[in-house]
Amino acid sequence: MLYVKNLHKSYQSGGKSCPVLKGIDLTVANQEFVAVMGPSGSGKSTLLNCISCYIPFEEGCITLGGQELKNLNEDALAKIRNEKLGFVFQDFMLLDGLNVRENILVPRIIQGEVSEEAGKLADSLLSLFGIEHIKDKYPADISGGERQRTAVARSLINKPLLILADEPTGNLDSKSSRAVIESFENAREQLGAAIFMVTHDSFAASFCDRVILLKDGCVYNTLKKEEKQSAFQDRLLTAIKEMSSADARTGR
Ligand SMILES: Nc1ncnc2c1ncn2[C@@H]1O[C@H](COP(=O)(O)OP(=O)(O)OP(=O)(O)O)[C@@H](O)[C@H]1O
Ligand SMILES: [Mg+2]
Repeated sequence: MLYVKNLHKSYQSGGKSCPVLKGIDLTVANQEFVAVMGPSGSGKSTLLNCISCYIPFEEGCITLGGQELKNLNEDALAKIRNEKLGFVFQDFMLLDGLNVRENILVPRIIQGEVSEEAGKLADSLLSLFGIEHIKDKYPADISGGERQRTAVARSLINKPLLILADEPTGNLDSKSSRAVIESFENAREQLGAAIFMVTHDSFAASFCDRVILLKDGCVYNTLKKEEKQSAFQDRLLTAIKEMSSADARTGR
């Protein structure tokens, strides 16, 4: 469903070109839940922003739901962002002046119409994510976990193929993180979305089907979950440790 092939991305700074992504290959299947982990600066957010159609890349290709992203104009990219992708950020990005239900409907409000069907979908998302009782409250009056579940519900209001999440549990305690991960699991099972999640949190990643380890702009390792969640978390921690000790061996 998502194919990334030989992706290269550099930033220009002080007249110099700094390579950040150096030939990334990866795929995400329909309804798959995939995490990306790696040290700070390894290029995780840059990768997410390329897939999100927010920043251009020099080389390689990204195909989403059968459509190639390179060479599309701004209007076509905006359409893909609206119709095929949902976004969840570390700091929730809810609008303070709107209540929970209205926040979930924001992508539809932006499109200029809130149909009866959208209203019904918002109500079913409220109940799916256990936030029905706070639907009239404002973001300032709910917990971090409730804010993030609201943001996950909002990401689903246009029935995307793929949810892109950058450290969605970064500001949450472990109980709220668990609730957000459960909301992703529900999104995939009941609404058929795939999830691509950047995270530093091995606990959150251990609920995924697959974890991609990124290092210095390259895919260092991919781990497929074949065991129970807690054993997978142990295996992830070992792989991350091995990745950083490879640094020590090469003197970086
Ligand atoms: N707009 C930009 N212009 C120039 N350099 C950038 C820009 N954005 C990111 N970089 C650089 O690219 C590299 C990768 O950044 P990126 O944000 O993708 O890392 P990350 O893996 O998401 O890190 P973190 O875990 O800290 O969020 C870093 O060295 C960063 O300084
Ligand atoms: Mg980042």
